[in-house]
Amino acid sequence: MNTTALVGAQWGDEGKGKIIDILAQKADYVVRATGGSNAGHTVVNGDKTYKLHLIPSGILYPDTVNIIGNGVVIDPKVVLEEMDSLEALGVKLDNLLIDYRAHVVMPYHKEIDELAELAKGANAIGTTKRGIGPCYADKCDRIGIRMVDFLQPEVFKAKLRSNLELKNKIITAVYGGKTLDFDGMYTEYLGYAKRLERFTCDTGVVLYDAIKANKRVIFEGAQGTLLDLDSGTYPFVTSSHPITGGFCAGAGVGPTAIKECLGIAKAYTTRVGAGPFPTELNDEVGNHLLNVGHEFGVTTGRARRCGWLDAVILRLAVRINGLTSLAINKLDTLSGLKTLKIATHYIINGKKTADFPADISMLEGCTPVYEEFEGWTEDISGCKKFEDLPKAAKNYITAIEKLCDCKVSMIGVGPDRENNIYKK
Ligand code: GDP
Ligand code: IMO
Ligand code: MG
Repeated sequence: MNTTALVGAQWGDEGKGKIIDILAQKADYVVRATGGSNAGHTVVNGDKTYKLHLIPSGILYPDTVNIIGNGVVIDPKVVLEEMDSLEALGVKLDNLLIDYRAHVVMPYHKEIDELAELAKGANAIGTTKRGIGPCYADKCDRIGIRMVDFLQPEVFKAKLRSNLELKNKIITAVYGGKTLDFDGMYTEYLGYAKRLERFTCDTGVVLYDAIKANKRVIFEGAQGTLLDLDSGTYPFVTSSHPITGGFCAGAGVGPTAIKECLGIAKAYTTRVGAGPFPTELNDEVGNHLLNVGHEFGVTTGRARRCGWLDAVILRLAVRINGLTSLAINKLDTLSGLKTLKIATHYIINGKKTADFPADISMLEGCTPVYEEFEGWTEDISGCKKFEDLPKAAKNYITAIEKLCDCKVSMIGVGPDRENNIYKK
């Protein structure tokens, strides 16, 4: 078997797009299984930068089949815009497949996402307002519209009518918003359905055959472990399971279909949106990470919160995802910092713990215990081998391996697909 799951090991934006693009050079299939257009994955190839939300990051290779699996929630408008802009850049979409069972994000999902966030006031989650939570809520409530419904005009019409009736009541009576119009929405979305139809199929069957034929398959994680609905910093999480276990349900494959699990992390930590962040830095080091690392969200443009690397989080990611190795990105961003720190434990209510707590109030009140490391000043973006890195950078990577009980197989030293070190 020749399959690898690539999963975010922190709060998202770990550089998954870059690593998928690198691995996709030799992949037959790249599969998105979770999340929706809340994801923003960057692929840099020479002077071209691609920002992908729904289309898998293997799309730049014409022979790689790119699958949007059943667990993804698809905003037809966003996916079509993305397809149009890729085609305008000369990227072929012949190998894009969308699963029949994937749920469709409708305008009322986005409206309710926005209104619910407003209503939460100071307790807002800081969502991307892409309608993700409301769409997954409809899926769980068993009233969602799936691609297979969307493609049948009469089925779509009936489902949209009953959903919109309910959603308009919620929008007006609960949130004091304005009703959305059925006719305009139906006509507009029917047009989108017609355009998407030729890409749809039962992707679970395609994948089953591919894996049986020993094809190289990569599962492209979106978001990250700490945003997982169960294991993350609930309620400051997304509404899906962006962990390797979630990829099985979201791609329609069994757990034995995944051989390697590669966790992607930054050499430090970032987070967009609200919620606890033990190692957050609101000082000049935080500013260094923000500015040198260009830490601004791909989907919303928001400045990312930045902090030291947190081994408590990475150990959780190793455990929950069954990681076989880690890729550490953006090591170059740390160049120039005199001293580096990694949180090894937390002190919670006076007690030292090695494990990530379930209660977020404990997380909010915890004090990280840090181990300090010497920094380096050299520009490392040209390094091609582990041996090329300054001694202090090598020590930092070795410390991560020890603290997380997981080997590091790749190191990112720049945004381009060329700026990557394979560590034996
Ligand atoms: P994703 O959501 O996990 O795919 O990550 P994003 O694309 O949202 O954010 C990662 C950002 O870091 C992007 O701007 C990447 O181009 C950039 N990036 C990825 N790896 C590296 C690296 O090793 N060094 C530097 N400097 N930038 C990187
Ligand atoms: P990629 O794939 C970083 C965060 C949002 C918010 C929370 C819930 O690029 O790593 P949602 O819109 O999903 O209901 O928002 O999750 N979030 C992400 N943060 N990277 C992402 O994706 C994210 N997708 C969602 O900022 O805090
Ligand atoms: Mg991102």
